[in-house]
Amino acid sequence: MKGYKRCVEYIRQNLFEYQTENRTKNYLALNENPFPFPRDLLRDVFNCIDEKKLPIYYDSPDDELLNLLLKYVGNEKLNKKNISIGNGADEIIYYLLLMFKELETVVFPPTYSCYELFARDVGVKVVSLPLLDERIPLDKAEKLLNENTVVFLPSPNNPTGHYFEDEEIERLLSTNALVVVDEAYYEFGKKSYVSWVGKYENLVVIRTFSKAFSLAAQRIGYIVGSESLIDAYNRIRLPFNVDYVSQVFAKIALKNLHIFEERIDLIINEREKVKKKLVEFGFKVSDSKGNFVFVYLEQKIREKLLDILKKKEITVRKFPQGLRITIGFPEQNEKVLATFMEVRENEN
Ligand SMILES: Cc1ncc(COP(=O)(O)O)c(C=O)c1O
Repeated sequence: MKGYKRCVEYIRQNLFEYQTENRTKNYLALNENPFPFPRDLLRDVFNCIDEKKLPIYYDSPDDELLNLLLKYVGNEKLNKKNISIGNGADEIIYYLLLMFKELETVVFPPTYSCYELFARDVGVKVVSLPLLDERIPLDKAEKLLNENTVVFLPSPNNPTGHYFEDEEIERLLSTNALVVVDEAYYEFGKKSYVSWVGKYENLVVIRTFSKAFSLAAQRIGYIVGSESLIDAYNRIRLPFNVDYVSQVFAKIALKNLHIFEERIDLIINEREKVKKKLVEFGFKVSDSKGNFVFVYLEQKIREKLLDILKKKEITVRKFPQGLRITIGFPEQNEKVLATFMEVRENEN
């Protein structure tokens, strides 16, 4: 078989379609924010939308959004040429892979699965160096990394939620590889590498409005990097990749940070409570700084837990090393904890 049919067949046989678990009553599988976007702010968004802007090809990003983002990231050495936006952080990851498709990509599993998934789409070779007890295997990494490699690293890590040491990131940067630090969950741990952009030319930070700002459905993320890299990014991406309305949402969110701060604090409190309880029950839990917790589990007990959670209409994310559970509302977290306790008690 020749031509487009061969291409279609190749794609169908080699690429995976991104799939999520079916929606259930307690859907704790995708690290979404349990709080809806604030209704008062939704009204502001509606009032802000200018009908005259809808028929035009609207600037993506517009100047006001760039200024607000610049203020939010808080690195005074940066200017508007250091920032751009994407249709979710995912699109930014996709474009970065496209920009560096001739280079090798390196990931440290367990990590965000989309790096590898998108790399396959783009035809980029991925090398996986598994974490050793939540630490980057630096000796192996240093042998492999150089200016011909791109590293993708979530900070805090997904699925475990832990932070890497600054020294680990520094050592990656000193290899001259391009290091993409993915701060999708920044607001739940508040440690950022944006202040290092400018100091390290080979550092790129990406973030999203999907998690802390309850805007996963609007698809908006941003990227911070050297002026030359952002210039190249702007040439690769589609011209109007983030729509006008999504930009309005992002701007209203950035102008009302205090509202989100309160909710973030509630999620953080719940996360700490859930981690503490799980440890009390005798489970091995990583020190997550995201809006989720990760429990290390042997296969047998993991499957048992999944089975019971399913019966209670609770959906969590399964990994070979354990389960990742998004922090939900207190009553949902209680249900999760009750299940873990039940399984532990039945074991003894
Ligand atoms: C580490 C990480 N990066 C990026 C994303 C995608 O974010 P967005 O919704 O902005 O595409 C996620 C979503 O779960 C994530 O966990």
